[in-house]
Amino acid sequence: MSPTRTSDVLVIGGGVIGLVTAWRAAQRGLSVTVLDPEPGGGAAQVAAGMLAAVTELHYGEEMLLGLNLASARRYPAFVAELIEASGHDPGYRRCGTLAVALDADDRAHLRELHALQQRSGLDSQWLSGRECRRLEPMLAPGVRGGLRVDGDHQIDPRRLAAALVTACERAGAVLHRTRAERLVVTGGRAAGAVAADGTGLSAGQVVLAAGSLSGRLAGVPEEVLPPVRPVKGQVLRLRMPEEHGPFLSRTVRAVVRGSQVYLVPRESGELVIGATSEELGWDTTVTAGGVYELLRDAHELVPGITELPLTETRAGLRPGSPDNAPLLGPTDLEGLLLATGHYRNGVLLTPVTGDVLAHVLTTGELPEEARPFTPRRFTAGTVMEQRVREQPAWTHA
Ligand code: GLY
Repeated sequence: MSPTRTSDVLVIGGGVIGLVTAWRAAQRGLSVTVLDPEPGGGAAQVAAGMLAAVTELHYGEEMLLGLNLASARRYPAFVAELIEASGHDPGYRRCGTLAVALDADDRAHLRELHALQQRSGLDSQWLSGRECRRLEPMLAPGVRGGLRVDGDHQIDPRRLAAALVTACERAGAVLHRTRAERLVVTGGRAAGAVAADGTGLSAGQVVLAAGSLSGRLAGVPEEVLPPVRPVKGQVLRLRMPEEHGPFLSRTVRAVVRGSQVYLVPRESGELVIGATSEELGWDTTVTAGGVYELLRDAHELVPGITELPLTETRAGLRPGSPDNAPLLGPTDLEGLLLATGHYRNGVLLTPVTGDVLAHVLTTGELPEEARPFTPRRFTAGTVMEQRVREQPAWTHA
């Protein structure tokens, strides 16, 4: 490699996770380069931007819940600082969420979610079908009940990404608009990357934050390659009428015949409907079947959507990890850190990821709140140690 640029930190990937890492690191006085052909592009261009720590709670993900809530709590101050730094409003909206049930199975599912939320000390309120419709008059008459979660808000991920691009540039981060060709490892440590335009970029620390692509960057040694896979989501955008008051005033969601569907109304009049969840590798085709299922399920919840203009259909790739939680911090390769695997929670986890990565880049220490999310939980050494710890005492004799 013949380096033409050297920085303290090279961030590979300029989605919201890479950008927030770069912004926070630059604010702390580090020189930063971001390598991405289209900073601010990627999954944020597709995501609905729900900040749904409570309504997207799943069994077995209590540890992740803690991180999700920590990030949700940071959002107001994070947004205020981002507006100040960039001059762009990322469309944070404290609208709350209503999760509804359409039939007896959905109702039982929602009751279980409510019980889990209560056991976890979360704020949610059970409503009858009538109470749901009083809150959201466009809901179908068949809605059988729902959960009102006033703390699950939304942000516009496209505007968030644009604000982060400006904040990065103003903080002095350099955006190198090219694809990363391969990681460079020298003397047993990550030393930079070669860009697709042939530029060599050397750095003291390299953060791999390339979303679903993080698992296939050339040059990353097999033992530290993140176990991240693409999980396709198709998303629709419609336009709500401006007259007659709000079409929907909060996010409305449901599980319909086992599939998640959500409707996220923006102040701008955009209504985002998502999302499929498909394990199809790198395919980002928008399919008739995907659009049909989303419209069918959304129509069951809110029949009036059929009157709205359909303005956009798009598919993106979530970076799925084996335990649905992100990989944050140092790897077993000196100089290489990860900020990837955020799966369904990339937008929600943006503030906390920026803080965690900036802390580790400047101190070398992963902060307490991020320790469960160390990438080392997936490396062979950790698994071996854990197995030894789990063996009955007599096997050590
Ligand atoms: N968090 C919403 C989704 O991944 O579809």
